Amino acid sequence: MSKIIECSELNYNYHNGSVQTPVLNALNLVVNQSESLAIVGQSGCGKSTLLNLLGGMSQPSAGKVMVNGSDLSQLNEKKITLLRAQYLGFVYQFHHLLKDFSALDNVAMPLLIRGDDTQTALKKSSKILTDIGLQDRLNHKPAELSGGQRQRVAIARALINKPNCLLADEPTGNLDAKSAKEVLGLMMELNQQQKSALILVTHDMSIAKKMDRFLTLENGTLI
Ligand SMILES: Nc1ncnc2c1ncn2[C@@H]1O[C@H](COP(=O)(O)OP(=O)(O)O)[C@@H](O)[C@H]1O
Ligand SMILES: [Mg+2]
Repeated sequence: MSKIIECSELNYNYHNGSVQTPVLNALNLVVNQSESLAIVGQSGCGKSTLLNLLGGMSQPSAGKVMVNGSDLSQLNEKKITLLRAQYLGFVYQFHHLLKDFSALDNVAMPLLIRGDDTQTALKKSSKILTDIGLQDRLNHKPAELSGGQRQRVAIARALINKPNCLLADEPTGNLDAKSAKEVLGLMMELNQQQKSALILVTHDMSIAKKMDRFLTLENGTLI
């Protein structure tokens, strides 16, 4: 099975002036294509830090991260951006949708950014939003949607490029139980249909147990 994410002996320290905060320590992880994995751990243990490293948003203090076989430390910022756009999708606890744009435009955005023509992008966006039950909300702006609907739009946006791996940072942390269930079901369904890997950070064990496997981040490493 092909590895979409592989990191070895990953270390990460935050620096604030002379103060060093060690967060990750000799962390190893391999995630295969089409696998679902939960990462659990107490608040502040470094889960978001780890996802940021996996997505190339920050660089490790030591060790390396490989995405689809490419060592991120060997790539410049532009190449990392391309790799991210090609292989990865991100969903956060807060949706990060563009507030002045409709659901349709928000979801089409990654395609427009990579240069697809507008008609095609909007058509694909409309289809994916329809698939997830938001066909009546295409022209609503984020403020005109419920929390669960916004998160579904954010997931549609993350998936429209058909990423090989979806990185989700407490995606249901801000939702009521019913919306959380819907959003989770959606990610799992699309993970299975598109055969893309899903790495889900959560502190909810009932969610973690639904993944193929789960690991706990503790003392800077995964166990
Ligand atoms: N910019 C920063 N500077 C210094 N320490 C930070 C910074 N960001 C996060 N931290 C610390 O790093 C640790 C891990 O943070 P984070 O990855 O956000 O944890 P989690 O997502 O598991 O709650 C926390 O203890 C936090 O206080
Ligand atoms: Mg976090």
